[in-house]
Amino acid sequence: MPLPTAGVGRESTLSSTVAHAGAVHLVGRSDAIRALEAEIDCAAPSDAKILITGETGVGKELVARLVHKRSARASAPLVTLNCAGLPDSLLESELFGHVRGSFTGAYRDKPGILEAARNGTVFLDEVGEMSPRMQVVLLRFLESGEIQRVGADRSHTRVDVRLVTATNRDLEKEVANGTFREDLFFRLNVIRLLIPPLRERADDIPLLVDYYLRTYSQMHRVPQPEITPDALDILIAHRWPGNIRQLKNVIERIVLKAGGGVVNPGNLPPDVAGNIAARKPAPATAVAQVADATPVRSHVDELIDLLLKNRESFWSAVYPLFMARDMTRKDLRTVVQAGLERTNGNYRLMVELFNMPPEDYKRFLSFLRKHDCLLPFQRFRTVAASRLRSAALGNTGTGA
Ligand SMILES: Nc1ncnc2c1ncn2[C@@H]1O[C@H](COP(=O)(O)OP(=O)(O)OP(=O)(O)O)[C@@H](O)[C@H]1O
Ligand SMILES: [Mg+2]
Repeated sequence: MPLPTAGVGRESTLSSTVAHAGAVHLVGRSDAIRALEAEIDCAAPSDAKILITGETGVGKELVARLVHKRSARASAPLVTLNCAGLPDSLLESELFGHVRGSFTGAYRDKPGILEAARNGTVFLDEVGEMSPRMQVVLLRFLESGEIQRVGADRSHTRVDVRLVTATNRDLEKEVANGTFREDLFFRLNVIRLLIPPLRERADDIPLLVDYYLRTYSQMHRVPQPEITPDALDILIAHRWPGNIRQLKNVIERIVLKAGGGVVNPGNLPPDVAGNIAARKPAPATAVAQVADATPVRSHVDELIDLLLKNRESFWSAVYPLFMARDMTRKDLRTVVQAGLERTNGNYRLMVELFNMPPEDYKRFLSFLRKHDCLLPFQRFRTVAASRLRSAALGNTGTGA
């Protein structure tokens, strides 16, 4: 079998990041960002391994770039590899390289990224997704520094690289439940850089909004829109589950839609505007009005409506948002919970409820399982429903 191509980013300088509107410095003035800047300055010069943690979209990769840029290795390569979704064989070959003939399509010897980053930095993103087997392989490399290419029967060379890793998983919890090796965790977690979510550093939002308004206006060659104070208040109060990546996307949409005009609350995307009253303390004069108002619906409620009322398929309404990290795992679990409540805990019925064809059942389950969103169905079972179902199926079905 030929191996598929991995998503590997290689860059020997930071300039390549400018092209895709990614910042090359941390925009922000909150205490949290200042503290993070100081920690990066302190950690960068040493060779100690760094584990960067934080929710999706908070800036883990950006911080890894800054560590490299501010280290003595800055003139050597920084090579990035995202470990999520790669089969072991490909991940191993990307890391360590392979020898000619080791699999179909391996026409010549090829070095892996650990060699390509010699004297530089390797950034392993989403390290928490590594399989138990690959965790052992990585640990072995960290202990010996030796590279054994896939298909080779002995070690090929030793390399000097600094390892920086990142994850949005709670690795301590993964260690406790046995899914991540404790010895590897201790090796990786020498210096920990924890990036707080955007909602905990709302002081940074006006600066980020301004920065990305300018960046996207220049990139799309359109006049820069002006955000009114009321609209900015809404952006500041939003929860930003997808953190800075989500804010960037929202600002890009605003830049493209506003055509250089004034952006008031009514022009904000509904998913952002929708949460405002739920988070903002109501001014005293508005209390009576708020008491009368219809409760504000969350972004997730709107998604559930899309599925149940608009009859949109899960694959078009929810899946792309989750994959683009515009909704969190918690949001996805809320959607699944809504499905379980309405089907008395029956995933097969949920497939139908969420407007997917029955043959998508396995794909749906494996998607939820992969992202740790396959909720136990038992507590959603009512006695009447399980009797009904047993009667209908003539057995005591598991609900799965
Ligand atoms: N403080 C910041 N200032 C400006 N831009 C930022 C900041 N933090 C992150 N960004 C931008 O937000 C986007 C997401 O950041 P990044 O890819 O580093 O997040 P991440 O934590 O690695 O996300 P994921 O967990 O989803 O991989 C990038 O385009 C990055 O340049
Ligand atoms: Mg990342």
